[in-house]
Amino acid sequence: MAVASPKLTEPIVPNKGRLHDPFIWHKLHSATGIFPIGFFLLQHLLANSYALRGAGAYNAVIRVYGGLPFVAVLEVALIYAPLLYHSIYGIWISAYGQSNLTKYAYGRNWMYFLQRASGLVAAVYISVHVWDTSIHKYIALWHGNPNPDTAISYAAMSHQMANPWLFWLQAIGIVATVFHFTNGLWNFCIRWGLTISAQAQRANQYVCWSLFAVFAGMGLWTIVHLRADGLQRIQTASPVVAITQR
Ligand code: HEM
Repeated sequence: MAVASPKLTEPIVPNKGRLHDPFIWHKLHSATGIFPIGFFLLQHLLANSYALRGAGAYNAVIRVYGGLPFVAVLEVALIYAPLLYHSIYGIWISAYGQSNLTKYAYGRNWMYFLQRASGLVAAVYISVHVWDTSIHKYIALWHGNPNPDTAISYAAMSHQMANPWLFWLQAIGIVATVFHFTNGLWNFCIRWGLTISAQAQRANQYVCWSLFAVFAGMGLWTIVHLRADGLQRIQTASPVVAITQR
């Protein structure tokens, strides 16, 4: 989000990069990053923060989402299809775009690089997360489990967060994904002509960094709370381990 305009000392030559990027598909990639995916990300972090109010509140929110009419159709149309398009196109851009960080280590070049790196981290993180939650839910449903939502319950989440590997994957994933979204929002506002002057772009930096701090903080606080509860549940369930660990 920080802007440091490079002082050009070399003549600008026409772009002879390997990426031939069709305008309309890039615009669609940009738009899907905000709606529906970005919008979903923010509401998802907010919904999960109900864990801070305890198991009852969290499970009630999960039941509301799980009980929406046509939930599977909504998930595919509003989350998985746009996310898949954005991710595949994003991986293609990352593979063929040319980062000139080694040549010009300016602030904006760092942001260009970090936007791509955080997108790739988000791709790994979201795949593991969707496998652990939604896909497990549908597998449970397929096996005739009458209560498939237990795969996404407070107990399941706090148990997962008690595992240090899953906890750190989640922490890194949340920070990278929220950074990707908020830095992307800053770029989006320029791309769509919403912040044209340098002053507007500078002001928007504060908005985007504030959004980053609020939503990354919210996500991290939620998983720290779930981890503390998960560890406590494990200790209470096996008092022998608790005594020997003191
Ligand atoms: C929660 C998931 C995601 C959200 C909310 C999100 C959001 C965004 C936003 C808002 C932008 C800025 C669009 C613009 O420049 O106009 C963006 C750009 C980008 N995204 Fe994502 N994204 C997500 C996941 C991913 C994934 C999984 C990848 C895969 C690598 C990815 C790769 C990219 C790339 C490479 C760009 C830069 C495009 C450019 O410079 O023109 N994104 N994303």
